[in-house]
Amino acid sequence: MNLILLGAPGAGKGTQAELLTEKLGIPAISTGNMLREAIHNGTEIGLEAKRYMDQGSLVPDDVILGIVRERVSQPDCRNGFILDGVPRTIPQAQALEDMGIRIDHVVSIEISDSVIEARMTGRRVCGHCGASYHIVANPPKKDNTCDLCGGTLEIRKDDAPETVRHRLEVYHRETEALKSFYEKLGKLRLVEGNQPIEDANRAILRAMGV
Ligand code: AP5
Repeated sequence: MNLILLGAPGAGKGTQAELLTEKLGIPAISTGNMLREAIHNGTEIGLEAKRYMDQGSLVPDDVILGIVRERVSQPDCRNGFILDGVPRTIPQAQALEDMGIRIDHVVSIEISDSVIEARMTGRRVCGHCGASYHIVANPPKKDNTCDLCGGTLEIRKDDAPETVRHRLEVYHRETEALKSFYEKLGKLRLVEGNQPIEDANRAILRAMGV
């Protein structure tokens, strides 16, 4: 099963992708996490991506498509995968179609900008594996420490309030149009994102008919 999670920054795509990975046994592919890892490792892609990510702008399509093409060809994607944060533009979605990547479901996590702005102030992410937490809604078991890998939790640089506002503008301008793109293909399902994490997860599974 190949799934796309759509939604504004902070809608809960990463959180839901982690839960779905556990429940469905297929990997989550987060372009945001892959780019942050590239920055951390100081690779050429990381250096290019950093200029865009720090400002909350989109990384060029050709960079994204290169890393996605390579990742979905890995053996652990044979039985399916969850795309988190990609596609983000119509050309990216069209390129996935042109690559012959079959998509079974597209779930858009719906949430208002005002809830997102409030949520982002409480987000903490693991500096090692990228897992996402919230100081109130989804705290780690041990203070400031990732439940999954023991890494230290950090505040993402692009979670500064003015950068979040810019990311939301970019979402409405560039990414929201993907909903009509996938609606025309009969694949779009909408799920309410402003509900407890486990409830949202059950709603996503129901929307997928699982
Ligand atoms: P990326 O890392 O993909 O960021 P994003 O899409 O902006 O999404 P976020 O990771 O901010 O949020 P999320 O929806 O995953 O929410 P989360 O689960 O963490 O991209 C970062 C940058 O990389 C982009 O700006 C761009 O520069 C570049 N990039 C990446 N992909 C690209 C692409 N395809 N094309 C071009 N550029 C690309 O949840 C947020 C918080 O809320 C957490 O604290 C969480 O614990 C909490 N939370 C989650 N669900 C709930 C709930 N139900 N109730 C209460 N709190 C909740």
